[in-house]
This record gives sequence, C-alpha cells and structure tokens, in this order.
Amino acid sequence: MCDTNTEATKKKVLSCIQPSGLLTLGNYLGALKSWVEMQNDFDCTYAVADLHAITVRQEPAKLRSQIYSTFAILLALGIDPEKNTVFIQSQVPEHAALAWLLSCYTQFGEMSRMTQFKDKSKKHPDNINVGLFSYPVLMAADILLYKSDLVPVGDDQKQHLEIARDIAIRFNNIYGDVFTVPEAYIPKAGARIRSLQDSSRKMSKSDDNANAWVAILDGRDDIIRKFKRAVTDSGSEIRIAEDKPGISNLITIYSAVTGKTAAEVEREFDGRGYGEFKLAVGEAVADELAPVKQRHDEIIGDKKTLERLYKAGAEKAESVARKTYFKAMKKVGFVL
Ligand code: TYM
Repeated sequence: MCDTNTEATKKKVLSCIQPSGLLTLGNYLGALKSWVEMQNDFDCTYAVADLHAITVRQEPAKLRSQIYSTFAILLALGIDPEKNTVFIQSQVPEHAALAWLLSCYTQFGEMSRMTQFKDKSKKHPDNINVGLFSYPVLMAADILLYKSDLVPVGDDQKQHLEIARDIAIRFNNIYGDVFTVPEAYIPKAGARIRSLQDSSRKMSKSDDNANAWVAILDGRDDIIRKFKRAVTDSGSEIRIAEDKPGISNLITIYSAVTGKTAAEVEREFDGRGYGEFKLAVGEAVADELAPVKQRHDEIIGDKKTLERLYKAGAEKAESVARKTYFKAMKKVGFVL
C-alpha cells in the first residue's frame, strides 16, 4: 500500500462479509486479502454482515455457527482486533437504524436496477422479500456510519458502492457535510474469481456444485482435487485469452496467490500442460490457506476469547457509529 498517512490522518477503510455459508477463495482473493494488507496503512473497520444474511432464509443454528466461524476466519487471517475494529454487524444497532433513515433518501427505481436483486429474485422466487430489495441501503449505512474513504470489495459489489456514494451525495446536498463519500478499492488480480466448473459464473458459496468453489476452510486434498477437476478450454497453451476463460481464471488465481504477474505465470508454464498447471495452482492455493484453517480451528475452540473480542469490537464500533447516526438524525430534524 502506498499511503503514507500518520496515525491521526490515516484514511478510513471499511468492509463487511456475509456469514451466509462457507467463505470461498473468491471472498479471499477479491476482498479478505486486501483487508489484511490494508491494516498496515489505514484505519480499518471490518464486520461480519449477519443482518445481510437473512435476506435469504437461514437455519438459526447454522447461521449462529457461521457467524462465529466467519469472525474466527478474520482473526485467523491475521486481522488484528486491537489495531483495527472487528465486529458483528447486528451487535451495533445503528446499522439498522441508519438504514431506515437512508431508505427515505433512496428511490425505488434505483433499487430496482440492482443486478444482485434481480439475480437473487430469480434464484429465490418464493421469497422476494423487502429486505432483499433494500439490502444496498443497509450496505450504504454500514459504510457511511464509519466515514469510510475506501471500501475493499470484489467486482460484484461495485454497483452497491455506487449507490452508497449516490445516497451520501444526495444527503449531503440537502443537509451539508454529514457523510464521507466512499470509494471502492478493487484488487487488480482477484476482483472476479470464477467458478471452477463454469467460467461464465462467479465463484460463489451458494453454488450447488461443490466442485465449483473452494472454501477457505477446505483441506489440502479437497483443494487439489477441485483444481484437478477444474474445467479448462480447448488447446493446450497456458495464456490469458478471451477464448480461454477456464485457463484465464486459473492464471488469475495463481497470480493473485503468488503475487506474480499474468505474464510471469504464462512464462513459467510455457510448454507445460494443463494437468501440470492445475496441480501447481491447487498446491499454491492449499499452501496459502492451510495456516488460515489451522488458526481458525484453534480460535473457534476458545469461545471465551472469541466472545470477549467480538463484544469489545462492537463497543468500539458503536462509539464511532453513534456519533454519525446522531449527527444525521439531528440534521433531519429529530429531537435528541
Ligand atoms: P459477500 O459476503 O458476498 O462477499 C464478501 C466479499 O467477497 C467478494 N467476493 C468476490 N470477489 C472476487 N471473486 C468472487 N468470486 C467473489 N465472491 C465474493 C465480494 O465482492 C465482497 O467484497 N454485500 C456484501 C457484504 C457487505 C459489505 C458491506 C461490503 C455488507 N455491507 C459494506 C462492503 C461494505 C456481500 O454480500 O459480500
């Protein structure tokens, strides 16, 4: 990271992740890897976005264990809960409260255009709830409460970020300088990791085909097996090309994990076959994720420490969120 801010003027970073299933390699390369890197140069706030998860029906016991596990993964990745603010969204009531306020400054038409709403409505036709529709407003509240300058996310969240900016600008135009207008921070490699079985789709934890995605907590053998089975394209050359979406995706993954450029990866595997390359990608991913799984399993076994950390995180988050929330309420005309 190139920022040279001092402690007091450090730019603010915020991002969240849903606990609605096992976290994937897509989550890791598109967002979490940046979260870890950014903590060295920015004032970072990271949350488990559990309120977002219930736009799709969740089984209570499973949701609870996913919330714990997601929080534990953040710590296992090396995100320092002392240096940063790490918390669970539902434990800071200002998120839902500000979302209501902001929803009155958001137009029905602009929400209807959200591609994720359209996709999820198709996927769950029997549960097109109002929360699914207004989800981006809650996300805007998450971001605006912490006066965030930068929001590290994968490519699929870009549209939601734009709405958060629009809402902030609209509110500020009416009431003066209340919210910081955020910017998306999208990684160069890894912004859109694709399914290992169908390269036209993004890698997603909600994909029914378990071979299509790698979980951060998958064991080494499973990871390598999934990469060996990954769909590739015709021909045998290992290079990024439009007519080679499968191999291009694997090059992106390998390059995001190793830090090598795509050109370097192409050179490294020049003249070598798909089989050899797929094994190398699987091994590199397995090596990268193994320590995360090990630390996660240790942390999840110590519920007391986990509880102490998420409670402290929520307190720290709320002390910031409350100020922004009350400022916005006051501007609108509420009696405080
Ligand atoms: P979520 O939980 O679906 O995903 C968390 C992060 O992972 C990224 N991501 C990917 N990146 C690259 N390739 C993929 N295949 C891939 N799949 C997921 C996502 O872009 C995201 O950055 N609405 C958000 C959570 C959220 C949030 C926020 C994010 C709630 N409030 C405030 C930022 C700021 C979501 O559903 O992400």
